[in-house]
Amino acid sequence: MSFELQPATAEDTADLADIFVVAMQKDAFWSNIVGKAADSDERAYVTESIRADFSNKNAICRKVVDLETGKTVAMGMLLTPLQLPTYDRREFGVMIDKSKIVPPGPGWNTDANTARQNNLETLAVRNGYDAERHFMRYKTHVLPSYQRKGLGTLITEHFSRIADDAGQPTYVRARPKSKALFQKLGYRVLEAVRVDVTEYSERGDGTTDVFLMKREPGAPNVPE
Ligand SMILES: CC(C)(COP(=O)(O)OP(=O)(O)OC[C@H]1O[C@@H](n2cnc3c(N)ncnc32)[C@H](O)[C@@H]1OP(=O)(O)O)[C@@H](O)C(=O)NCCC(=O)NCCS
Repeated sequence: MSFELQPATAEDTADLADIFVVAMQKDAFWSNIVGKAADSDERAYVTESIRADFSNKNAICRKVVDLETGKTVAMGMLLTPLQLPTYDRREFGVMIDKSKIVPPGPGWNTDANTARQNNLETLAVRNGYDAERHFMRYKTHVLPSYQRKGLGTLITEHFSRIADDAGQPTYVRARPKSKALFQKLGYRVLEAVRVDVTEYSERGDGTTDVFLMKREPGAPNVPE
């Protein structure tokens, strides 16, 4: 199999939403928030959230394409420091207004989403993240049938080079499934938050973890 990392634009939104929904299906946190909402409502919400990401001129997005099938199989986003002015703007076609995000329909676990926001809003900032200067990784997702083939690594090393060129650290709020990936690529855990999820949990005891991780510029990969 051969893969290529490419810039993604707003035109990729539907493909990226597909990847997000499938990759996060078993995520305790996300499935708790989605609750009993219809699949179509989840899809619509994720689509609009990704559109909003494309309207953020400080966010850049990469996709990984399977060159044999032409299919997009992985994605990643990087929030660049607010002080970095331009290169992301060039990559985005249509600018879309965030106000187009509509509240999700019935069945959505609004309480879980509020709890998530309350829990995590300050997590990065209280650990030193400064949006003016630092990078933030988010929405790293690989289709399940393409996982463990190095695509998460491909995306992460690419974004690490951008941060290294700028000489600034990168933060990420990692889920249990991605912790090992980031650790291997030079990120360190600064804080672990145990979040209560009422119905779904990979532990079976109603909790799941979010790890605030940081990679210093130039940090080496951790050998096996
Ligand atoms: C987390 C995720 C992005 C990793 O992507 P990936 O393409 O599978 O990662 P890689 O193949 O580059 O793996 C790199 C390393 O990470 C670690 N790793 C990745 N997946 C792992 C898993 N399920 N269990 C243990 N370690 C894992 C391993 O050390 C792996 O190296 P190895 O395969 O040589 O042992 C992918 O599993 C995913 O999309 N998960 C669902 C969505 C999600 O949780 N996203 C993260 C949100 S923060």
